[in-house]
Amino acid sequence: MTNESGHKRALVTGGAGLIGSHLSDLLLAEGYRVRILDNLEPQTHRNGKPPWVSGEVEFVNADIRDREAVRKALEDVDVVFHQAAYGGYMPEMGKYVHVNSFGTAQMLEVIRDENLPIGKVVVASSQAVYREGAAVCPRHELVFPRTRPVEQLASGDYTVHCPICGEITTPATTPEEAPMGGETVYAITKADQEQLVLAWGRQTGIPAVALRYSCTYGPRQSVFNPYTGVIAIFATRLLNDQPPILYEDGEQTRDFCYVEDIARANLLAATTDKLDGLPVNIGSGCATTIREVAGMVSGALGVPIEPVTRGEFRPGEMRHLTSDISRARDAGYEPTVDLSTGIERYLEWIRTQGGVRDYFAAAEQVLREKRIVQRTASPPGRN
Ligand SMILES: NC(=O)c1ccc[n+]([C@@H]2O[C@H](COP(=O)([O-])OP(=O)(O)OC[C@H]3O[C@@H](n4cnc5c(N)ncnc54)[C@H](O)[C@@H]3O)[C@@H](O)[C@H]2O)c1
Ligand SMILES: [Zn+2]
Repeated sequence: MTNESGHKRALVTGGAGLIGSHLSDLLLAEGYRVRILDNLEPQTHRNGKPPWVSGEVEFVNADIRDREAVRKALEDVDVVFHQAAYGGYMPEMGKYVHVNSFGTAQMLEVIRDENLPIGKVVVASSQAVYREGAAVCPRHELVFPRTRPVEQLASGDYTVHCPICGEITTPATTPEEAPMGGETVYAITKADQEQLVLAWGRQTGIPAVALRYSCTYGPRQSVFNPYTGVIAIFATRLLNDQPPILYEDGEQTRDFCYVEDIARANLLAATTDKLDGLPVNIGSGCATTIREVAGMVSGALGVPIEPVTRGEFRPGEMRHLTSDISRARDAGYEPTVDLSTGIERYLEWIRTQGGVRDYFAAAEQVLREKRIVQRTASPPGRN
């Protein structure tokens, strides 16, 4: 994938983070000139600018909500990869809307107002935008269940019921046609980002793509942020001789995707027109239970501490979500790193990070107080 001029110019917002930094490295390797705009959010970057931000990029330390900084950062740019976002399960409702929804809207407004010659915008969306993973009902085949009611979870029933007949379903892979409507504040604002970018793209004629990433992990995933990144959280817990905490019964499944695969999907979205105008699932296409992930991390670390369940759940969370990645595949995307290899690489990296502290225990207390984590009336046993 070479580009005509030899030097395309990219803006990567959030480029100091997990995905943005790997994407920036890939773009540099592909001959792009790269500018990063990132405010070094303290929860993610407790020690300031991380050492992996390449000296070859132009680094702008600014907030995505700063209109003038964004206007300047957009100068002489051909393609925008919008990765900056406030993520995870934090209590600050207003901040999600401000950073994710407002920040994105204002950036698009600036591009249009200034008539900037941007050739494409690729926005980081998320699988969180779905209500629940697609499922198969014994009577109704493929169905799109609703978010499980809080009362159901509080009663200790974690299953997913058919939206038509109420029968218990089995999980299926989720295509992009599945309805949006994820109920966490993060999910609501990721949907805003995606819809703002795609609608703006249709109206301005500027090609736009929304990549709905699955759970992304890999080297550089913050070891400081206790609110997001289950592999990082489990690893830091285990390195501090603490058991990983599983919400619900630990049998919920997710699609884990290695960060370099996500970075390559971004490059693909920028260089093909096959995905223009679309939301596109990017993931591994494989389901893994959270309990299995805990076992894989503890096995790979050689820290034999069993995970614990305490009958806690997070309202609004999905039970199962595995991406149907056929749309991306048809455009040439293929995941290349399997979960055990990816976990090995993450743990190799984490060992180079010096002493890692467990921030989870303190965070947990906050989440309980705010009812972002709740307890079932009668915790069920392991199944
Ligand atoms: N990691 C995942 O599992 C996952 C899954 C789906 C979607 N995403 C999305 O991918 C994108 C990148 O996520 P990541 O995993 O690399 O997270 P990350 O936290 O490692 O990186 C995000 C970066 O954005 C920066 N940032 C945050 N608020 C900002 C602001 N107000 N102004 C400027 N910069 C700001 C942070 O400093 C950080 O460097 C996000 O949009 C996220 O919502 C991530
Ligand atoms: Zn049914």
